[in-house]
Amino acid sequence: LNSTNPTSPTIGVFDSGFGGLTVLRAMLPRIPGARWLYLGDTARLPYGAKSKQTVARYAVSAIEYLQQHGADFLVIACNTASALALDEIRAAARVPVLGVIETGVAAAVAASRSRGVIVLGTAATVASHAYARACAQAGLNTTEKACPLLVPLVEEGWAEHEVTDQVVRIYLEEAFAAAAGNAPDTVLLGCTHYPLLREVFARHVPAGVTLVDSAEVTAVRAAELIGVSIQAAASEAPLPAPTFFVTDSTMQFQSLGERFLGQPIANVTHVELPE
Ligand code: DGL
Repeated sequence: LNSTNPTSPTIGVFDSGFGGLTVLRAMLPRIPGARWLYLGDTARLPYGAKSKQTVARYAVSAIEYLQQHGADFLVIACNTASALALDEIRAAARVPVLGVIETGVAAAVAASRSRGVIVLGTAATVASHAYARACAQAGLNTTEKACPLLVPLVEEGWAEHEVTDQVVRIYLEEAFAAAAGNAPDTVLLGCTHYPLLREVFARHVPAGVTLVDSAEVTAVRAAELIGVSIQAAASEAPLPAPTFFVTDSTMQFQSLGERFLGQPIANVTHVELPE
């Protein structure tokens, strides 16, 4: 790391918008003493319906901004950006980069006994097959399922709405029907928004199926890579206040973002990213 003090790195967290706050939320208590920069590309979301070329261009301009503002470690919290553009991001980065695909797959490997895993994500994430490739390398049989209605439902504040309940039930029925040959015992929530629907998923997965998401594992892996000890991570120190950059309305980010982060959001600045 470039940081003069390795125990207080500046960690840049990038997401297409709000969802990456679920990953930030998991990291804050685990990496005490870090300085946090969060960039949500809210003007250009959703990434989940866009092409690889577009997502890569947006993501590279975003991480460039974080680097210019002092990030010496980058976490790509967005599953879509990690799935479609991690190579381009790494090529453009001058600091270590952690994406959420590898950490999510590690969580699925740890959870699955049958070696059969269902991965849920945006249309773009599923179309990229980044999870299927990473899972195959880890010895897992994967069935991927795009759930494009879930991001808008969560952003509408409908996480506990009956419509969302039905949509989740139907997606899961379709996914389990398609995955029957793999005897899936694990469902990987491969999108930043899905941890907010964890209880809804839990109501509809068959008994004995484990739900995993990449937020916690990403936090643990980032702490390892940065060199934060587990004892330090367990400290009771107050959580630091991150600096937030967004490409669209700061007020909207504050109100919607607090649901994802689980704590008040301050220090939000509007920024323009070059195309
Ligand atoms: N952050 C995206 C992801 O994790 C979801 C939102 C979007 O499509 O931009 O895939």
